[in-house]
Amino acid sequence: MKHEAPGVPTPPASLARLDLADALPAAARLRARSYDLLAVPPGAAVVDVGCGSGLAVAELVARGVRAIGVDPDPAVLAVAAGRRPGHDFRRSDAYALPLADGEVAGYRADKVFHLLDDPARALAEARRVLAPGGRVVLTGQDWDAIVVDSDDPGTTRALLRARADAMPAPRSARAYRATLLDNGFTDVMVEARVSVFTDPAVALPMLEGYAGAPVEGAGAWMDEQRRRARDGRVLVAVPVFLAAATAPGAV
Ligand SMILES: C[S@@+](CC[C@H](N)C(=O)[O-])C[C@H]1O[C@@H](n2cnc3c(N)ncnc32)[C@H](O)[C@@H]1O
Repeated sequence: MKHEAPGVPTPPASLARLDLADALPAAARLRARSYDLLAVPPGAAVVDVGCGSGLAVAELVARGVRAIGVDPDPAVLAVAAGRRPGHDFRRSDAYALPLADGEVAGYRADKVFHLLDDPARALAEARRVLAPGGRVVLTGQDWDAIVVDSDDPGTTRALLRARADAMPAPRSARAYRATLLDNGFTDVMVEARVSVFTDPAVALPMLEGYAGAPVEGAGAWMDEQRRRARDGRVLVAVPVFLAAATAPGAV
């Protein structure tokens, strides 16, 4: 686990797992692509919704953007504020952003929409806070299309399905395009890539998350994955979608 500077609270376990994944070069490239697609001029305001530890807020500020991080979880926000003093973090959720109408030129949400029971409502709120012509960028994984190499494909399928079914919106990422179009956004584009995890330090916590689903045989399945990790044979592949669009004129 990453050791925090004095005064910064210990991150929740979910954030520690994210830290590991966010440190990978492929994740850094994906974030950079998301910033490029925002395409906002220097000094313009961007809201990062579900900002987590505030990594994207810090990276956007380093690019000359006025970034605002929003998250409803006070424990996560405390870590963000502790790690990145002087940055703008606000407690709020995606349905009621602490922003005026048309206040921002960019809206970003990374690995957040699968947690929302009503992604379309979040996009209506995105439209409200975006200036006409503002940019929205969404990225996240499709929880219903994850691949795990295992000798037991039946249990793998059952576990991954149970994990996906436990999410409010497991297929929100494949639906980004349709949801953006349905909410009046224009110039909608979608890219996809597959993140492949073979480093046990990153993959095992993910696999333990899948094995936590109430499925018979989950324990033996996880034992096999631990053996694979010891033998350097672990593989998790996660499809990640990235969508960008432009806000229409006055709502
Ligand atoms: C998987 S983390 C992703 C964090 C960060 N965007 C990243 O890419 O590392 C999901 C984040 O969404 C936040 N979240 C959950 N429900 C939310 C909601 N209704 N509105 C906004 N954010 C939410 C969580 O608190 C968490 O920080």
